[in-house]
Amino acid sequence: MRFGVFLMSLSVLATTSIALAEPPAATLSPGFKFTEQTGETLYANVCQACHMSKGEGAVGAGRYPALANNESLKAGGYPIYAVLHGQKGMSPFGRMLSDDQVVAVVNYVRTHFGNNYTDAVTAQDVKDAR
Ligand code: HEC
Repeated sequence: MRFGVFLMSLSVLATTSIALAEPPAATLSPGFKFTEQTGETLYANVCQACHMSKGEGAVGAGRYPALANNESLKAGGYPIYAVLHGQKGMSPFGRMLSDDQVVAVVNYVRTHFGNNYTDAVTAQDVKDAR
């Protein structure tokens, strides 16, 4: 039996849902753009699947670093770069987010989850890092 067919029949047979050790990676079409505009909603829709609801990160099949109490967020350019271009296990989101959306989500994570970096990043910072 082909593996795909095997998996399909497994999912048909399964009566209980199986908790995945690893958060599902989003499969997005090339022209996809996120529509959320606030840092909070962007975080919930774009980042939370991997970095978790309180920014605590996760270790399972992969390692998702905590954004909570994270000194790497001190220099605003670092999270901007990670969001735009990705980093190892993190996919790049630059094409799916406007400059203002990147600003919103980066300033959000830099001022939440125990982080208190109030020198807000700007749309120009994001433009320069693209
Ligand atoms: C598909 C899972 C995934 C998503 C979605 C995701 N990340 Fe990540 N992120 C990762 C992984 C994995 C790493 C660690 C990469 C590495 O090993 O260098 C990471 C690293 C980071 C880092 C660097 C942390 C450090 O301590 O060096 C920042 C900042 C970050 N992510 C912010 C975000 C933000 C903001 C979002 C939402 C816009 C986001 N991530 C969405 C998986 C994800």
